[in-house]
Amino acid sequence: MKNIWRLIALLLISAAALAGQQNRFSGESLAPTPPMGWNSWNKFGCNVSDSLVRGMAEAMVKSGMKDAGYQYVVIDDCWQVSRDKEGNIVADPQRFPEGIKALADYVHSLGLKFGIYSDAGTETCQGRPGGRGHQFQDALRYAAWGVDYLKYDWCHTSKTQDAATSYLTMREALNASGRPMVLSICEWGTAKPWLWGAGAGGNLWRTTDDIQDHWAGREKWPNGSCCSNGVLAILDMQVGLAGFAGPGHWNDPDMLEVGNGGMTDTEYRSHFSLWAMLAAPLMAGNDLRSMRPEIRDILTNKEVIAVDQDALGREGERVAKDGDLEVWAKQLKDGSRAAVLLNRGPSEQEITVNWQELGYPEHLSAEVRDLWQHKDVGKFTGKFSASVASHGVVMVSVRP
Ligand code: GLA
Repeated sequence: MKNIWRLIALLLISAAALAGQQNRFSGESLAPTPPMGWNSWNKFGCNVSDSLVRGMAEAMVKSGMKDAGYQYVVIDDCWQVSRDKEGNIVADPQRFPEGIKALADYVHSLGLKFGIYSDAGTETCQGRPGGRGHQFQDALRYAAWGVDYLKYDWCHTSKTQDAATSYLTMREALNASGRPMVLSICEWGTAKPWLWGAGAGGNLWRTTDDIQDHWAGREKWPNGSCCSNGVLAILDMQVGLAGFAGPGHWNDPDMLEVGNGGMTDTEYRSHFSLWAMLAAPLMAGNDLRSMRPEIRDILTNKEVIAVDQDALGREGERVAKDGDLEVWAKQLKDGSRAAVLLNRGPSEQEITVNWQELGYPEHLSAEVRDLWQHKDVGKFTGKFSASVASHGVVMVSVRP
């Protein structure tokens, strides 16, 4: 009898431990809302270093970005140079003289989290050592360094390599390390990661190839490979994907270009608004140490960020399109809606959002608030119209 009770107690303890372990690494606990942070790639490419990353972490705090919700500081490609005799990954000793752990400790000391980059192939996109064949070894090392977030790329993979299995292996390696780490799948949408990304333990997955710091267009790279994308090209590729995102697992239309100089402030405001509507991860990609106040105000607009981070985790969708004029809508947890009136065209235009496009009845009276002007616009029944600048947005909340 005594033994039976002992067995039951043992089973209960094991079940609780297992549930705890699963819960610790479940997508919902790692990324209940889209991750927010900064990544080195869009502005600095391979020019990464200890002092750059420390400076960026400090600026994230000083600029008010940390208060606005940004937390991950992520080094992209080029921090690694080789593997040692045991196969351990080696950071560039010139650029990271104190090693990655000291840097991660510093980032943590500012109340932020630390992220790093590798690749599911034999080499990264910049020809540095990749992770293939070293997944468990790398995960242990990352855990020892205090890594909280891993972006895992897809360059130099073999033609027969299966993406879902490759990312699942990395997720299992991360879990086996014992340290919770966000897994950012960077497979560029080639094998439709929205279909398998969550199952592979990914918390976000790129839906497209790389963003570029311009408004529109989709062009081949100089070497002929496809493609670099303007904001609108990426936006169009998100249509139809909303149903695949939710708490713990997000579509990733790539990192932000806000502040990098290739677009106007109006276009950057649109880029940021649309990414918030898409419940996209908000990874700033500019130099946070020297941004103009206008750029800081875009990146730290708490009302727009609240739309991105809304706890319901519903991705917004395009609900109306008339040539260059579009309406995007996102349902929020309290039953209200966010709406973006987008003017892709060359001149100022009036755009109307009808309540029916928001899933509301026509006769409903609702409060409209402008999320860039930070002011209530009034009560409207059935629809709301606004004049929208060329390449601009008007972003509102509609609250019955
Ligand atoms: C790929 C990714 C980019 C960046 C670079 C680094 O192009 O899509 O986001 O990580 O590799 O080499």
